[in-house]
Amino acid sequence: MHPLLPTHINDLAMALNLPDHVMCNGERFKLFISKEQIDNRLSELGDTINREYADKRPIMIGILNGSFIFLADLMRHVHIPCEVDFYKLSSYGDEKVSSGQVTERKELDAAIKGRHVIVIEDIIDTGLSMDYLLKKIKDQRPESVKVITLLHKPDATRYDVQIDHVGFEIPTLFVLGYGLDYAQEGRNLAQIYVLDPEHAS
Ligand code: PRP
Repeated sequence: MHPLLPTHINDLAMALNLPDHVMCNGERFKLFISKEQIDNRLSELGDTINREYADKRPIMIGILNGSFIFLADLMRHVHIPCEVDFYKLSSYGDEKVSSGQVTERKELDAAIKGRHVIVIEDIIDTGLSMDYLLKKIKDQRPESVKVITLLHKPDATRYDVQIDHVGFEIPTLFVLGYGLDYAQEGRNLAQIYVLDPEHAS
């Protein structure tokens, strides 16, 4: 074996900088969804898109900032012609709970009238952002709209929003990493972490 190759999985996790616990803005988070679980689920979601959108040239619309890593990785499992564009919304600011108000920070550039749109979100929590966004998108009369979210908190969702495919349904917990932030930090973590209740401040 090459001397630089890890000999077992823990070495591999360390080599890839995949810790079990992380600190973010002074709070401790523990591993919740591993890189392997994320990779496997993205492969399945990619297969679904390939099947549902063959010959439809969909446009995948990422909702910034949170979705950028999910969208980038998911697109690499999509093997049919497709396009990409972005909206930028904000409702949480630097807090752990929603402000209850959506602020629009970037409009779409693409014209989506008559197009097959796939909205890509990192997380649907209360559903406020998706409710706001779907109204805006549907006003532009696309041919079809589907919603794919990496994470969904069903017990926290207060709006009756359309969700077509979910990566993982999760309890009402504060999660971090893989695009999701705490006060803008932690988006670069390769795995998804949860606030560790034993160490919460
Ligand atoms: C997060 C997340 C979703 C939204 C989900 O965005 O990316 O867009 O909140 O919450 P909701 O269902 O309660 O509306 P945030 O406002 O934190 O902005 P960010 O994507 O830049 O982190």
